[in-house]
Amino acid sequence: MKSQADRLREIALTVKQQIESEMSKMVKNTRVVAVSSGKGGTGKSTLALNISITLALHGKNVILLDADMGLANIDIMLGIVPQYNIYHMIQGKKTLREIILSHPSGIDIIPGGSGISELANLSKEQLKRVLIELGTLDGEYDFMIIDTGAGISDNVMSFLLASDDVLVVATPEPTSITDAYGIVKGLSQNRFKGNLFLVVNRVADSREGVLVAEKFRLVCQKFLNLDIKVLGYVTNEPMVQEAIKRQKSFIQVFPQSVATRNIYEISEKLVLQTCEREAGKEIKPKGIKNFFKKLMSFTKTQGE
Ligand SMILES: Nc1ncnc2c1ncn2[C@@H]1O[C@H](COP(=O)(O)OP(=O)(O)O)[C@@H](O)[C@H]1O
Ligand SMILES: [Mg+2]
Repeated sequence: MKSQADRLREIALTVKQQIESEMSKMVKNTRVVAVSSGKGGTGKSTLALNISITLALHGKNVILLDADMGLANIDIMLGIVPQYNIYHMIQGKKTLREIILSHPSGIDIIPGGSGISELANLSKEQLKRVLIELGTLDGEYDFMIIDTGAGISDNVMSFLLASDDVLVVATPEPTSITDAYGIVKGLSQNRFKGNLFLVVNRVADSREGVLVAEKFRLVCQKFLNLDIKVLGYVTNEPMVQEAIKRQKSFIQVFPQSVATRNIYEISEKLVLQTCEREAGKEIKPKGIKNFFKKLMSFTKTQGE
């Protein structure tokens, strides 16, 4: 027979579990969106940056992770020189808060730097510490946007598979379309369960944007049985390059441009799509801690 003390312990445990479950429902996880493309130079960094700032202008808390190991360039686009990156955090030389940059545009930035490739080689102790630190970001941000590298190397694929959503950027060039299709195929083969989005960049006009996007969507549906949602297109505009020269985001220096309007529409759709899914309880964001945990587990197995 159970003693009174045992029963009390049981009741206390049940109450504790209930409280914990209620609390975990209250902590909102950050939605992790990886921006990717098969081919380099399609506009990943440009779009990741401008979408992040637009979301921030609309009241969302956004952190942008610069994870392109080859050509990290969010800092160059903004004319900032990060002193520290994820590497310094892994080494325990800096805390996560010390490497995060707050930009006047309203977004925070995590410079990935050489730390991104180091994530695969952490000791158990480092892993634990790094994950605890990164986990504190969940709930603080609505979105983490990741500017990934190009291509479908295992490394890039790990980033995509670990994310809640993947936003594929393609231009109307046939080579870019084929490479983007390669990414989607890779995700399909790896049974990616998140939202899959498409943006067609550098289109001549809205007609071309709609045509290219619709064609791509249908091909993915027919051959991969995958539902890719079209978020929109961005026109090819010299102002986009001009803004980069001035080391500013184009939505801020050229607020009246067509490309800015395009980015606003894309960001609005991104919020709508992800919220609709949440409301329908289909895909809840798994958060920043889970993202890094998954990412590190993928890269570890590849390294072995
Ligand atoms: N919509 C656009 N109109 C004009 N130029 C663009 C547009 N999008 C990107 N670019 C230009 O294309 C180049 C590559 O963009 P970037 O964002 O660095 O690509 P990625 O990160 O995919 O390598 C940059 O010089 C940028 O100014
Ligand atoms: Mg880039």
